[in-house]
Amino acid sequence: MMFIEVKKGKTKQENYEIMLLHLEHFLVDSDTFVTSLSNLSAYINYFLDDINWVGFYLYDGKKLYLGPFQGLPACTEIKLGSGVCGNSAKDMKTYVVNDVSSFSGHIACDSNSNSEIVIPIIKDNRLLGVLDIDSPLHSRFDDIDQMYLEKVIAKLVDIS
Ligand code: SME
Repeated sequence: MMFIEVKKGKTKQENYEIMLLHLEHFLVDSDTFVTSLSNLSAYINYFLDDINWVGFYLYDGKKLYLGPFQGLPACTEIKLGSGVCGNSAKDMKTYVVNDVSSFSGHIACDSNSNSEIVIPIIKDNRLLGVLDIDSPLHSRFDDIDQMYLEKVIAKLVDIS
């Protein structure tokens, strides 16, 4: 792939639009999946403000295991149905948690995290893993984040 200069926009929407344009260039099926996940975690970390962790948990058919990420070291395995990631994976739907302390079973990897969004990665009805993003702010993630991040994951699924 070719690296092109990446400039941040001024608003949240602008940043998502710029990131989606960049995805056309760096999410390519000639890269391995783990390579794409690594670059994608770096791009999301760059473009999203007020986050302290972004990364992937991958599904091996039994459990989730830690994939490429940016942030502090995190728990390496998560059971389906456990924590926000395990629930998103089990239900195959996006979870937006405004206050992680009120989510029963939340797994605290970084005590700075106060809100969280988890988006499942699903190809042909098969779970590949989840994208997990944490923020030190309460209620950091809204419908706009969910809409754009689901588009990002749809592009990832296209090349997987
Ligand atoms: N909080 C997540 C665990 C992963 S860390 O946030 C990186 C959860 O409850 O599933």
